[in-house]
Amino acid sequence: MNSTQSNTPVYGNLIGGEWVAGKETIPVVHKFSGETMAYVAKSSKEDVHYAVSNALETFKTKQLAPYERYEILTRAAEIFKQRKEELAFIIVREGGKVLKDARAEIDRGIQTFIASAEEGKRLAGKEVPIQGQPGNEGKLAFTIRVPVGVICAITPFNFPFNLVAHKIAPAIAAGNTVVLKPAGVTPIIALTMAQILLEAGLPGGFLNVINGSGRETGKYLLEDERIAMFTFTGSPEVGRQIKSQTGIRKVTLELGNNSPNIVHKDAPDLMKAAQLCVTKGVSNAGQACISVQRVYVHRDIYDEFVEKAVQAANSLKVGNPEQEDTDVGPMISESEAIRAETWIHEAVQQGAKVLCGGVREGAVLHPTLLIGATEEMKVVCQEVFAPVVSLIQYDDIDQALEAANRSQFGLQAGLFTSNLQLAFKAARVLEFGGVIINDVSTYRADIMPYGGIKDSGFGKEGPSYAVQEMTEERIVVINL
Ligand code: SIN
Repeated sequence: MNSTQSNTPVYGNLIGGEWVAGKETIPVVHKFSGETMAYVAKSSKEDVHYAVSNALETFKTKQLAPYERYEILTRAAEIFKQRKEELAFIIVREGGKVLKDARAEIDRGIQTFIASAEEGKRLAGKEVPIQGQPGNEGKLAFTIRVPVGVICAITPFNFPFNLVAHKIAPAIAAGNTVVLKPAGVTPIIALTMAQILLEAGLPGGFLNVINGSGRETGKYLLEDERIAMFTFTGSPEVGRQIKSQTGIRKVTLELGNNSPNIVHKDAPDLMKAAQLCVTKGVSNAGQACISVQRVYVHRDIYDEFVEKAVQAANSLKVGNPEQEDTDVGPMISESEAIRAETWIHEAVQQGAKVLCGGVREGAVLHPTLLIGATEEMKVVCQEVFAPVVSLIQYDDIDQALEAANRSQFGLQAGLFTSNLQLAFKAARVLEFGGVIINDVSTYRADIMPYGGIKDSGFGKEGPSYAVQEMTEERIVVINL
């Protein structure tokens, strides 16, 4: 924090280890009460230029040994543990995430930092046995992994701590410098993370944070040719724009999904499957790229599944995210909730039926279960990114697998079955970056490879995969 404006905190940008006030500011609102809780700098083109200059200068002139990066990142993880409640409440207030999920996100972020710190120590090349080919006698070859340089991380609102961790911790662990642009609606948790990294001993310039609107600040970043790599999580539209403007520079894109989950007639525990499909479709108000959205249920178990799903949805507490027992809080904004509500109304006009929910109070959209939704409806064929789950009946498993694949997206999918052969078949034929058996598409362990195909993007996150993406493999040949 730099200062206050009528008692409201004002945050600047972090550039070269210093907090730099912006000429203009933008408000950050509490997502449940709507009150302004802080202001952050609205970065100008000059601010962005200054941040990138600093990151580049730092990359060229300063170095941290892998063990130093390890110590800084693990020290930061320790501070996160000590300040977990404070951090969780920031997420609740600026992101609208319910308290128990915010705490869980901090726990995940801590593990992401620790795993990244460890991966930084393990990064290594390998010997290349070139003497196995005639003409290479007397030569020794091996690879080394070198950091790419300045990495620009652009992060979303839905996991404003852990998805920032997934980008900056591996980037620093791998020896890069970073310019972070956190989501304009949830910047404070990222700024607090950056402050903690400074306290943990990260020298200035390794992490620079600039605030502002995605459109304007993002444009300035994309125009800056000194950035070696962009790592982005967000919408397919912005992902496409980044891809088209970054030329031959490195990019990883983690975009959307309309996650399918198949519940076959031999699902081992129908109650558990129904509960998971509902809770993981509506937790974080459905605002996760891998939220359960389309649930294909076999005809033989459909009625029982629907009954259990409705029970599960009706048992959820909806409302104030600051209360300990709230399960579903507000969406990121009222306009997003209105957008999702419109999609529900449209689906109903086209023949779908609302089993529960469908009600909106401001930014809070109640958990909504739909039946009778078809593939042409937005709630099925587009990414709904709201607590809306469609239950769709099927007769034949091959039809269900095909329906799951009929999507522009391909991030993660789930299947419930007791049949090992079917599980293996699904793992092969489902066109997704991840296939989860006997759990939902929403499952993610932070150390696993995470990333999609098709319009879900490319490149993998998960610390050991991210450090590979964020380094180059360089061959060294020595003529002995
Ligand atoms: C995402 O929305 O892609 C992140 C989901 C997660 O990390 O659980």
